Amino acid sequence: MKKSKRIKKSNSWKIKQHRDQFFKKSKTLGYRSRASFKLIELNKKYKLINGNSDLLDLGSYPGGWSQVARRIIKKGRVMSIDIKEMAPIKNVKFIKGDILKDNTKTEVLRYFNSKLDVIISDMAADTTGNKSLDSIRTNQLCADIINFSKDILKPKGVLVSKVFMGEDFIEVKNLAKSLFKKVNFFKPEASRKESKETYIHCEFLKTL
Ligand SMILES: C[S@@+](CC[C@H](N)C(=O)[O-])C[C@H]1O[C@@H](n2cnc3c(N)ncnc32)[C@H](O)[C@@H]1O
Repeated sequence: MKKSKRIKKSNSWKIKQHRDQFFKKSKTLGYRSRASFKLIELNKKYKLINGNSDLLDLGSYPGGWSQVARRIIKKGRVMSIDIKEMAPIKNVKFIKGDILKDNTKTEVLRYFNSKLDVIISDMAADTTGNKSLDSIRTNQLCADIINFSKDILKPKGVLVSKVFMGEDFIEVKNLAKSLFKKVNFFKPEASRKESKETYIHCEFLKTL
């Protein structure tokens, strides 16, 4: 077998192993997606969510992150949004909608009627087969949420969002730094090493 073919085969074996490991764990713990473990790790690192948090989960389908958030939050409100229909989760207010649209943003403001503690976004644009274009489109979603967060987060609120280490990554980072005092990046173990996905963590709006 040619060397390049051998490397490809061993990489796809590693990806499968990685998926299977988190898939099995999510089934055992009753989570809807392997992505749940990314939020668990992010929360362990940044202590994002507490029992009283008012939280918005963007790109929530199938619901893994919302389940994790709901298990931690005892008194606060959880609202989840996705363009795909999500099966109900107890005590989670779901809206089927596109967060880029003004009417969806208005629904968020109307539901909470006060500023939020936490926004988590695992949104990813639909894949086109062109990795560079996919990364740009997902980073545009991230940039939109960074802008939206300045209107709806409490001054000490936190935003965590998926972002790709693509060509426009630096623009997203600069936008975040223009609005937040503290900006960090973290790639959870549950995120495949081969993927350019990472998570941006933004805290303390500069209006403080
Ligand atoms: C990786 S999945 C999220 C997985 C989820 N965090 C979980 O734990 O189950 C990304 C989601 O982002 C959603 N999405 C992409 N663009 C969106 C938009 N403009 N508004 C709302 N949701 C969007 C997709 O429909 C998709 O379901």
